[in-house]
Amino acid sequence: MIPIAKPLIGIEETEAVSEVLSKSQIASGEYVVKFEDNFRRYLSCEYAVCTSNGTTALHTALMAAGIGPNDLVITTPYSFIATSNAILYVGAKPLFADVDRDTFNIDPNKIEALITSTPEKIKALVIVHLYGNPCDMDRIQEICNKYEIILIEDCAQAHGAEYNHQKVGTFGLASIFSFYPTKNMTCGEGGMVTTNSEEIYHNAKKIINHGQEQRYIHDIIGYNYRSTNIAAAIGIEQLKKLDYFNGKRIENAKKYIDNLSPEKYATPLVRNNAKHVFNQFTLKCHMDRNQVIEALDKAGIGYGLYYPKTIPEQPLYKNLGLTTPCMIANSLSNESISIPIHPILSNHDIEYIIDTLNHI
Ligand SMILES: Cc1ncc(COP(=O)(O)O)c(C=O)c1O
Repeated sequence: MIPIAKPLIGIEETEAVSEVLSKSQIASGEYVVKFEDNFRRYLSCEYAVCTSNGTTALHTALMAAGIGPNDLVITTPYSFIATSNAILYVGAKPLFADVDRDTFNIDPNKIEALITSTPEKIKALVIVHLYGNPCDMDRIQEICNKYEIILIEDCAQAHGAEYNHQKVGTFGLASIFSFYPTKNMTCGEGGMVTTNSEEIYHNAKKIINHGQEQRYIHDIIGYNYRSTNIAAAIGIEQLKKLDYFNGKRIENAKKYIDNLSPEKYATPLVRNNAKHVFNQFTLKCHMDRNQVIEALDKAGIGYGLYYPKTIPEQPLYKNLGLTTPCMIANSLSNESISIPIHPILSNHDIEYIIDTLNHI
């Protein structure tokens, strides 16, 4: 069986965790501080705050940016549910702008149309660089500046991705990453908030630690969203390997793009000014997707449907009256399929996958 995702954990991570355990300081401490510092340097940004996972990082980022009850926040219908749920956590209301058919990312034209057709002020925009492919940042930044909207980037799937040679996670007022094992680098569970704003940084630090700056003095509602030295020790080692992991993903993607039948599948669009880091390699099938699923199942090849139901179509969002028809996202969710792209794939695995798909 070729799995759809597999983290690459080496001896370095094992030794780093042993070192932490031998020092007995297993909760948050010096390793977390080092991981934050290394991560912000990697991105070339000013501040990073390590959290327990990507979802808590999103909640923290939105709170730190002052997004709260009844604020309107535009986001994508096509993402993992955490993106939009974090908007609900702060009591704000998500509005969905449909995606671009070629990139699966939120469409700037749809964002602008939604802003101009909504009588109330839009407070923020939460974008997702889906599958590791950067959004159209020139247009998105232009729109946020024009309408004075706070930009939050969800980079949970895009560690190391770049737009015009600038790393994603450095464009927004605040950005977030996830280190879940299916991501381009992992800590087991982990997240990061990144920002160039000192204010956001201080807010985030406080939010993840029960709203205290001074020990046992709490002036806002905070949470325990802290990470641990154990997770951070893994993250420090994984970050050293991130460019290598991404290089392998990009190499694997090129083999698929060059060899998969264009009559049968549309492969992901990569823009000239973007570095796509292929957290997922997602095909649009020009045939009934069930045929593809059946063939992959039979051949022992893992696959993923990201996502079989768009966020506005989820029962939760329907029950909350937050459904907006997003036709493109809905059609992509019916015709797309993700195939293995992780760095552990051998040449033989990739040839086998290509051969299987081209013979359907
Ligand atoms: C786009 C996106 N946002 C947020 C998250 C949440 O991250 P985590 O699973 O670490 O809480 C994920 C994780 O799957 C994700 O893919």
